[in-house]
Amino acid sequence: MHICFEGIDGCGTTTHCSLLSEFLIAKGYKIHLTKEPSNNEIGLLLRKYLKNNDVHPSTDALLFAADRSHHFFNEIKQKIERNYIVISDRFLESSVVYQSSQSELLSIEWIKTLNKFVEEPNITIILDIPPELSLQRKKEQKLEKFENITFLRKVRELYLKRAEENNYYVINSDDKIETVQKQIQKIVMNELKKIQF
Ligand code: TYD
Repeated sequence: MHICFEGIDGCGTTTHCSLLSEFLIAKGYKIHLTKEPSNNEIGLLLRKYLKNNDVHPSTDALLFAADRSHHFFNEIKQKIERNYIVISDRFLESSVVYQSSQSELLSIEWIKTLNKFVEEPNITIILDIPPELSLQRKKEQKLEKFENITFLRKVRELYLKRAEENNYYVINSDDKIETVQKQIQKIVMNELKKIQF
């Protein structure tokens, strides 16, 4: 089982991934918590590029795809095969949404093709929040290149459109952490029941 959390910058994926992980561990499940950009070499290179505005969007898309491919085949897939529930703080949908919002040159189809060897996750949960609020949560830190209101409005809209088309879960994350987390736990427990883990 592979569960992915998605949403605009500052929407709370990192907090909710770790809370969900603690909740499922307490229930006795084997959990592997991970994130993208990953901590391997391509992921670290990518993090440097996120501070650099002088990179063509296609370079970003190719690097994110390379990072994901390595991360998926060398880590995520192996954990799934060993019956772990893998919880991803961002995955494929981040590339589809962020990179296609970066430039009209980058179609969703092309991004999907680049990523075609990785398998779709079982559950995708989008944490939805207006960028005005999500960026306030980030105000203490130096902002990276995607962290501006105009761009994030576009990203949010596309996440919501994609959620409708692909039956992703959408949760309003402009609420108390406990309230949001309870909704996430309910969704995940229902899905686990369905596949009789
Ligand atoms: P994020 O998880 O928000 O990093 P941080 O640890 O700094 O909160 O991800 C970094 C940025 O990379 C974020 O703006 C989203 C972007 N991103 C893409 O554009 N494409 C991708 O495929 C991924 C995984 C992330």
